[in-house]
Amino acid sequence: MLTSIRLVNFKSFPDATLRLGPLTTVIGTNASGKSNLRDAFRFLHGISRGYTLAEIIGEKWIEGGVLQWKGIRGGTREAAFRGAPAFALDVGLEGAGRRFAYRIEVGLEKGVPEIVQESLAEDGPSDVTWRMSQDVTSDRPAFHQLTVPGQLTVPGPPGRPRRRAARMALSALSNMRFLDLSPEEMKRAAVPGQTTLTDRGENLASVLQTLCNDTGRKARLIHWLRSLTPMDVADLRFPADPAGRVLIELVEQDGSAVSAYSASDGTLRFLGFLAALMSPEPPRFVFFEEVENGLHPTRLQLLLDLIREATKSGTTQVVPSTHSPHLLSLLDDESFRNASLVYRLEGEPGSRIQRLDELPPDTREVVRSRDRASLLRSGWFEDAVELLSVPSEPLAPKPPEGPR
Ligand SMILES: Nc1ncnc2c1ncn2[C@@H]1O[C@H](COP(=O)(O)OP(=O)(O)OP(=O)(O)O)[C@@H](O)[C@H]1O
Ligand SMILES: [Mg+2]
Repeated sequence: MLTSIRLVNFKSFPDATLRLGPLTTVIGTNASGKSNLRDAFRFLHGISRGYTLAEIIGEKWIEGGVLQWKGIRGGTREAAFRGAPAFALDVGLEGAGRRFAYRIEVGLEKGVPEIVQESLAEDGPSDVTWRMSQDVTSDRPAFHQLTVPGQLTVPGPPGRPRRRAARMALSALSNMRFLDLSPEEMKRAAVPGQTTLTDRGENLASVLQTLCNDTGRKARLIHWLRSLTPMDVADLRFPADPAGRVLIELVEQDGSAVSAYSASDGTLRFLGFLAALMSPEPPRFVFFEEVENGLHPTRLQLLLDLIREATKSGTTQVVPSTHSPHLLSLLDDESFRNASLVYRLEGEPGSRIQRLDELPPDTREVVRSRDRASLLRSGWFEDAVELLSVPSEPLAPKPPEGPR
C-alpha cells in the first residue's frame, strides 16, 4: 500500500505531496498535472519491474522486437520540471504492518538518466535502512536489485533482513495498473486465456471470458452489469471468430444478443472496470484516467460503489483522476477526505496538490455546508487554494450562489 508520494521537480511539479488512502480521487482541470502524477506512479512501477532508468523513462524492448514498456511521456528531456538537472520521488509504503520511506533522486544532465541518491528506511528501530549515492550505484535502481540474492551488496548491516524488508516494501509497487480504457479497442476479438487487462482494454473479451469460467464471479459480474444498463443483461457469451479469437456478446432475458461492436461505450467501459477490478489476481494499485468518461452522471455512483467494493479488502488501492465536479459530490466522507485537487495558480508554471480535507477551518466549513460539485464547478476550490498561498488572506472565498 502506498501512503504518500512527494514529487520534487518531477514534470510539472516543483514540490508537491499526494497522500493516499484506499480510494484517492484526483480532481483537476485540463493540464493541471493529473497525468503527470500518473507518470510518477508509472516510474515507481518500472522500478518494481527491475528496469533500468533509461528503460523506465524511455522504453523497454524485449527479444523479438516486442515493446514491453512504454516510457514516461516526454522522455528524459521533459522528466524534470522546466529542464531542472534532477528530480526526486519520496514514497511512503506500508506492508504487513511495517512502514517504509523510499527516496530516489535521478540526475538527467548527462542525457542518460542516472541515480544520484537512493534510500530505503523503515519507520521505528530497524536494521534495514540503506542509503546509496552515485559512486556505488548503477543506472538500475538498487531497490529492485536488493531483492535479488547476490545481485548487489551495500555497506551496512547484514543482508538478509534487509532483503526481506526491501521485498516487502517493493511489493507495494508491483502489480500496478494504469487504465485509460478505449471503447474502440475493447470491441476487438482477443486471443483466449488472458487474465490481465491491457491499459486500453484491447483484450477485454479474453479477460472477461476467463473471469466467467468461475460461476460465482460471473454471477457477480452480471449483477453489476444489470444495475448499469437499461438492457436486461442475463448472460455473457464469447463466440469465437474463424481465427479462434473470442468476441463479447451480451445476451438479454429474451435470448436476443448484441455483440460488443454494437454495445454502448459506457457499457464497454464499465465492463473494462469490472474486468480490471474483479480479476482473480486483483491489482494492488489502479490508476483510472478520467474515470467519468462515457458514463452518465447517474451511473457514476455505481462505479464508485464498485471501486469501494474493490478497495474494501484493503489489498487494492484505486486512484481515479477526474474532471467531474459531480463525482466529488458523490464521494462518501472518508473518500472525500482522501480526495485531492491538482491545480496551477495563474501566472505560475508549477502544479500543486491540495488535499481537500486539509483546507483551513473557515474553508472546510463552507465545504461542509455547500454542494461540493457546485463549489468545484464555479472554481471556488481554486480560489480557496489561491488565497491559501497568500499568508495575509486567511478567510475562505465567498461561495457561489445556488444550491447548498
Ligand atoms: N517537465 C515539465 N516542466 C514543466 N511543465 C511540464 C513538464 N512536463 C509537462 N509539463 C506540463 O504539464 C501539463 C500537462 O499535464 P498533464 O498531462 O498531467 O495534464 P492533465 O491534468 O492530465 O490534463 P488533462 O485533463 O487535459 O488530461 C502541460 O501544461 C505541460 O506543459
Ligand atoms: Mg491527462
